[in-house]
Amino acid sequence: MKLSIIVAITDDFAIGKDNDLLLKIPGDLQHFKKVTQGHTVVMGDRTLISLPGSKPLPNRRNIVMTLDKDFKAEGCEIAYSIDEMKELVKDEDEVFIIGGGTIYKLFYPIVDKLYLTIAHTSVEADTYFPTINFEEWEETSREDITAGEKAEFAYSFVNYVRK
Ligand SMILES: NC(=O)c1ccc[n+]([C@@H]2O[C@H](COP(=O)([O-])OP(=O)(O)OC[C@H]3O[C@@H](n4cnc5c(N)ncnc54)[C@H](OP(=O)(O)O)[C@@H]3O)[C@@H](O)[C@H]2O)c1
Repeated sequence: MKLSIIVAITDDFAIGKDNDLLLKIPGDLQHFKKVTQGHTVVMGDRTLISLPGSKPLPNRRNIVMTLDKDFKAEGCEIAYSIDEMKELVKDEDEVFIIGGGTIYKLFYPIVDKLYLTIAHTSVEADTYFPTINFEEWEETSREDITAGEKAEFAYSFVNYVRK
């Protein structure tokens, strides 16, 4: 079972503000859907709440991480620790960690692959991804979109595997 992170970050690793995403990045939702469709996604309970209608993502197995034993979410499985989550997905091929900040920090040291959408800009944020040391990662694919093509900032879809 391969563990992957998918995340949209700015150049300074910002990912969220007021329990919402920071930026509208053209094509990022479609990219996220294409990559995760048919797979299992793992998220913190705050990220679940931030989704439209606080509902699980369709066409994916949704696992929510919480420390609250009373927490329930329709259409979601619950995991109280990394080990419990791994046990739930042990027969899967690739599992996607989809946020937020707390859950990315928890899994970053142990994931095999990163699917990054990097917005080459800086915005005010209250939630950050861990600082990535790119020397530890090998780039496997990259698509750069220049500013003005579709957005006022440049952005890139970049995938990495751990060296
Ligand atoms: N840019 C992106 O790609 C992206 C993607 C997703 C989310 N986001 C953003 O990230 C922000 C939300 O991040 P967040 O850090 O506030 O919340 P979060 O990571 O979604 O959820 C945090 C919750 O995880 C649970 N948790 C923490 N440690 C745990 C552990 N060891 N085992 C099991 N559960 C554990 C806790 O739940 P309990 O308190 O219930 O115990 C905690 O409240 C929002 O702004 C959102 O928009 C950005």
